[in-house]
Amino acid sequence: MPTTDRIARDLTELRAAIRHHEERYYVLDDPEISDTEFDQLLHRLTALEADHPELVTPDSPTQRVAGRPVDGFDTVRHDVPMLSLDNAYDEAELTAFDERVRKGLELEADAPIAYVAELKFDGLSIALHYRDGLLRRGVTRGDGVRGEDVTSNVRAIRSIPLRLKVAVPGDIEVRGEIFLPRASFDRMNAARLEAGDPPFANPRNAAAGTMRTLDPALVERRGLGAYLYQLIEPGIGSGAASLADERVAKPEDSSAEVGRTVHNHGLAALPGHAAVLEQLVAWGLPVDRHWRRCCGIGEAVDYCRTWADQRQALPFGIDGVVIKVDRLVDRVRLGQTAKFPRWAMAFKFPAEQATTRLLQIEVNVGRTGAVTPYAVLEPVQLAGTTVRLATLHNAEDVARKDVRAGDYVLVEKGGDIIPKVVKPILGRRPTGDDEPKPFVMPAACPACDTMLERGDAQVVWRCPNNHCPAKVRRGLQHFAGRRAMNIEGLGESLINQLVDRELVADAADLFGLTSDTLAALERMGTKSAANLTAEIEASKGRGFARVLFGLGVRHVGEGAAELLSGRFGGLSGLLAASVDEMEAVDGVGPIVATSVRSFLDAPRNQALLRRLEDAGVLMLADRDEPVDAPEQTLTGQTFVITGTLITMPREAARRAIEARGGKVTGSVSAKTRGLVVGADPGSKLAKAEALGVPTLDEAAFRKLIGPRPE
Ligand code: IVH
Repeated sequence: MPTTDRIARDLTELRAAIRHHEERYYVLDDPEISDTEFDQLLHRLTALEADHPELVTPDSPTQRVAGRPVDGFDTVRHDVPMLSLDNAYDEAELTAFDERVRKGLELEADAPIAYVAELKFDGLSIALHYRDGLLRRGVTRGDGVRGEDVTSNVRAIRSIPLRLKVAVPGDIEVRGEIFLPRASFDRMNAARLEAGDPPFANPRNAAAGTMRTLDPALVERRGLGAYLYQLIEPGIGSGAASLADERVAKPEDSSAEVGRTVHNHGLAALPGHAAVLEQLVAWGLPVDRHWRRCCGIGEAVDYCRTWADQRQALPFGIDGVVIKVDRLVDRVRLGQTAKFPRWAMAFKFPAEQATTRLLQIEVNVGRTGAVTPYAVLEPVQLAGTTVRLATLHNAEDVARKDVRAGDYVLVEKGGDIIPKVVKPILGRRPTGDDEPKPFVMPAACPACDTMLERGDAQVVWRCPNNHCPAKVRRGLQHFAGRRAMNIEGLGESLINQLVDRELVADAADLFGLTSDTLAALERMGTKSAANLTAEIEASKGRGFARVLFGLGVRHVGEGAAELLSGRFGGLSGLLAASVDEMEAVDGVGPIVATSVRSFLDAPRNQALLRRLEDAGVLMLADRDEPVDAPEQTLTGQTFVITGTLITMPREAARRAIEARGGKVTGSVSAKTRGLVVGADPGSKLAKAEALGVPTLDEAAFRKLIGPRPE
């Protein structure tokens, strides 16, 4: 009988071997053993761990997918905001960027700057946190300030190591992109079509959709890839301004001991981005090998040209090239704007074009009642996806370009833009009896037959009917959308059913829906109905900014909604605010202020807001950062919530825990400090009882968080 020590050693060796082969296969694309041999290793490890469950470690390759679907994702604040990139569309804009950099660094006109050029992966950004070399957390970009904790899904991506090859002490954060390789995308869409599900429009949507699923096993099956390109660590990266500033002032300082106590990983000695990328590789992290260090902007421009031509040969999609100043101290000197670093620029490839037949011109009614034409096309391959629909902007545009149903047309697709019809190919227009007829905009709304209206000097026709079912549907979709009330599970087809059956006519009606009503809808079981009711309930606590954005007030985006909600504290403050007072808020202009005021002045909207409030929707500013923060009584403690809470929305309970330093996760483990139990608890209750995890009913929970729930 081997000793426990011996078994532990065998396990360590097996895990190291598997990790080595995972890196060869998934990171370096250069396997040393066959798939069967790899499977055998994994099988041996699984069997050995099954015999010795006490020796299973969280970083074991068997623990990528621990098999448990999660309940939802927690929101996490980024220590350093995740910025975006400024875009250049031609060489002149790249030269202008180079000139700005040169000026910012006070360099002579002819002194070349070292840049690193990388491919711009078409996926979604991710931040990975490692502590002492172990993967601790993966967070999406979200709005740049807060993202979603998708650790369970990140662990299911094979190229992302659960443990770094080097036990880097302390905390580091690496950032990069998660994407779906073309082959996985094609495979997945073929399977969806077979199952009768709509295919994903492009690999980016598919990757983002996959990362939002609650089932890590599905993430693993879909075969996402990841490339990392940024290290956020004290002294390195865009956000460590204070420390880095000191380093600029004292460039001879070689260690990270300046300013605050940090682990000295020797990273402060890394001179530039190229060295950072090499460091990431040495840690076993996936880095795309196509990057190049360029001496001067000319070489970077050449790199852009090369990849604009060769992009289709890559096994994954790219939408451009990113050009970054190499030297890290230079980056710090250049700094950043509110949105972009000044040391980097994305070069966006020109739109790809294709020719196809325009079968029909149809019109669509939007949330604001705008009625716009769009083209139904003979399916055509464009930029790696099949295009069936394209935008035609507005009736005037169709007339100006003289686009007609039956024409051959040039369509194009750039970056994240919906494909559009550029022009008809007049030389191929059928003649005689087959000659296509010019497009005529319908006079009445296709959804409710109300006569369309158009203001003077306006190009967009609108349906003026406030009860137009198409507008109502779109409005509800927006209200329930991720960026607004985020009601998971309330998608287009359900909303259509709810409106068609006259169960819902506006946002407030959603909060009167019962599980029984929902369960009677098509493709809805009792369980999904209960889940959706819980989701609707949870959305009540999202805060006033989301309500304001969700109601679709014209010109009010997420940013303006947050500013207004934050400044006036919620609905009652905003109702009392004048246009001037609103305009006085930094970032709110006269158009937004006037639009909000007239929205609030309309009796119909006031009634809607009152009904929302009566339904229990929180009309106060999101209090993520209370001015007088509660005592951090729950620091380091993890809670799980199950069932429906009666006196506070689940979201509010979560925030109350987080505001006190605690954490809320989706599944119960031996480490869970407590399970908060509402009505109709799920299987978590039994699990908590089995593991001896304390349970708290609502009263006990309120007592725990003290007198000031969020
Ligand atoms: S650097 C400070 N490098 O493009 C921002 N971004 O359009 C640092 N992206 O949000 C980003 N490939 O998600 C960088 N090689 C690359 C990239 C890349 C793709 C994404 C990233 C970013 C977006 C901006």
